[in-house]
Amino acid sequence: MNKREFLTTAGGASLAVAFSDVKSLFAEADAAGTAPAELAQDEAFWAQVRAKFKLKPDYINLENGYYCMQPQEVLESFIARVREVNTEASYYMRTVQGPNKEAVRNRLAGLAGCSPEELIITRNTTESLDTVIAGFDWKPGDEAVMAEQDYGAMLDQFALQAKRYGMVNRRVLLPLDPKSDEELVDLYASAITPKTRLLMIGHMVNITGHILPVRKIVDMAHAKGVQVMVDGAHAFAHLEFKIPDLGCDYYGASLHKWLGANLGAGILYVRKDRIEKLWPIYGDAGVADTDIRKLNHTGTHPVHTDLAINAAIDFHETIGAARKEARLRYLQNYWTSRVRGVPRIVLNTPSDPKRSCAIANVGVQGIAPRDLAKTLLEKHRIWTVAIDTANVHGARITPHLYTSTADLDAFVAALKQIAAA
Ligand SMILES: Cc1ncc(COP(=O)(O)O)c(C=O)c1O
Repeated sequence: MNKREFLTTAGGASLAVAFSDVKSLFAEADAAGTAPAELAQDEAFWAQVRAKFKLKPDYINLENGYYCMQPQEVLESFIARVREVNTEASYYMRTVQGPNKEAVRNRLAGLAGCSPEELIITRNTTESLDTVIAGFDWKPGDEAVMAEQDYGAMLDQFALQAKRYGMVNRRVLLPLDPKSDEELVDLYASAITPKTRLLMIGHMVNITGHILPVRKIVDMAHAKGVQVMVDGAHAFAHLEFKIPDLGCDYYGASLHKWLGANLGAGILYVRKDRIEKLWPIYGDAGVADTDIRKLNHTGTHPVHTDLAINAAIDFHETIGAARKEARLRYLQNYWTSRVRGVPRIVLNTPSDPKRSCAIANVGVQGIAPRDLAKTLLEKHRIWTVAIDTANVHGARITPHLYTSTADLDAFVAALKQIAAA
């Protein structure tokens, strides 16, 4: 391979993953005018998408919320990137690392619907949101608002700021099955005081799958002069939306969850006019205060991780955001509609289908969540995760694109058997 070819391939362009067979399937569906909601129910169709993944036969994996395995072609592309960077080593790092990473950043910004000047690639949601929380210029008595059901790492980071700067954190308890968006807007509004500076909300609550009415909460908070940071760990590349449409000031997400990127990839969006006031965690005198890249100086890192995001975007775009969301929502409704109302079975996810997508949480009265998850695995070979916190007691069930309705039939049968015992 000559230098020119290498530079191109390491950028991902000429080794773009084709997914030609899946692409032609979708082209046929498009030509037939099949709507996403209809296609979502076509098992034979999705079986061909499932074939793109290498599944372990030992168990049915319904815990894709932590991170989701990559389709084989995306994985192979990642491995190819590792080999390429290793071959050229420092030569690669000193010549084309920068432009190649920029190309991926631009592509991600396109996916997010924002300017590349408002987005950086991080390692994950934790790094993204903690950069904002720790970058705030907190003064004693300043307040922040968040929910009990928010992710522990962010709650801990806020607690750290309280210890260090004397700021104050207020938490609301989200209802499991809200009757309206206004109920949620009012709940957050009730915790805001004249001292509140930042509100954190989950776009999709990780332990229940609850999708919050982000735009309405943002509008309410902005009307009170409060900035909003959104935890999009589970929403990005899961739901079809563009970040600027949410109106928020900050948005963080992990790409190894729903985009299907390799482990250790995330994004941070900071609205252009909010960049200047944020303090970076790592110093970088070469970047202007108004340049978001000032937040990104984390030293030498596995650049192949960033480059391989390209292949994950290829796969995501091949499926299409609307079709992906429709299939994921269909899978969740498929199993929840079969257990809702069954004696002892308690769903901890909103009943309104608009308020959830792939993720849902289910408990069985009288059975501790960890015992439920243990029985599901040991007796029924179904892998889930137990949640037992913040008013949520059950197993989190997270199908992904490779999940079949046969997998979910097995889960429903197991759950009913457990509840009937
Ligand atoms: C809502 C939410 N926020 C943040 C995170 C942290 O993600 P990561 O570990 O990729 O930083 C998670 C992880 O599951 C999550 O569910």
